[in-house]
Amino acid sequence: MKVLVATEKPFAAVAVDGIRKVLDEAGYELVLLEKYSSKQELLDAVADADGLIIRSDIVDKEVLDAAKQLKIVVRAGAGYDNIDLETSKAKGVVAQNTPGQNSNAVAELVFGMTVMAVRNMYNGTSGTELKEKSIGIHAFGQVGRNVARIAKGFGMGVSALDPYCPDEVITEAGVRPVHSVEELYSTNQFVSLHIPATAETKKSVGYDLVKLMPKNGVLINTARKEVIDEDGLAKAMEERPDIKYVADIKPDSAEELKAKFGDRVFFTPKKMGAQTAEANINAGIAAAQQTVAFLRDGVNRFQVNK
Ligand code: 3PG
Repeated sequence: MKVLVATEKPFAAVAVDGIRKVLDEAGYELVLLEKYSSKQELLDAVADADGLIIRSDIVDKEVLDAAKQLKIVVRAGAGYDNIDLETSKAKGVVAQNTPGQNSNAVAELVFGMTVMAVRNMYNGTSGTELKEKSIGIHAFGQVGRNVARIAKGFGMGVSALDPYCPDEVITEAGVRPVHSVEELYSTNQFVSLHIPATAETKKSVGYDLVKLMPKNGVLINTARKEVIDEDGLAKAMEERPDIKYVADIKPDSAEELKAKFGDRVFFTPKKMGAQTAEANINAGIAAAQQTVAFLRDGVNRFQVNK
């Protein structure tokens, strides 16, 4: 069996070593395609792969058509909006993710960017602290739960909104459940986004919600750029000069936002929430183990294209 690890943004070398070990032990061949710059390289490499491990790499119909032998694609990470679920399902290719494996890394970056925002991008001027301020967590999944844990260490009040998560789970984590986006955005100076990019959530955070934020509001986005209505965000930030936006991945209108709002916005040049050795090891090795478990034993616990 041939397993292709295709990562435009490579894993740490130590994680690749771990993946290789898992595949070696199973008697499978690892093919590594890192930092590829054209889609053709992926199309060529995937042609004879039985398994495919990716990160945010796009697996669309063209890739799936080229992957004549493919039985499983594992997204080493949480969000699987980069996989064409319908086509993979129609072709009988199982798609899986590795939930939770990189969530601490993303949650730590939330606070890396939040502290930077309240310390005025480290420009030497007097900022503010997080202690006794409130943070609202928009979706209480694996990353959201880690954000809550760390927020409590900062001495923050924590609320969460998640229609898919029972109130008891939120309460047990010592977090206040809220039941509407309006309540979440209007009662928290800090709001951290953890919703996936779906048809329902795309462009769902914009003018109406951002303008509700309390004074000196900071919106933190380590989820997906697609969930933001960028025009609406810009309009709210024009009307509210106290609001800041920090995001782990450039918005489409990054240049315009930077030109308009300067140090009130910050964007990582490349998505780096999960870019730690630990997250790479956890997600990469889990992906390799899941690939082997599926190809060898048919184990399919984390399928996302049922
Ligand atoms: C995820 O969905 O797991 C994160 O966004 C990380 O994505 P990455 O593997 O491309 O860094």
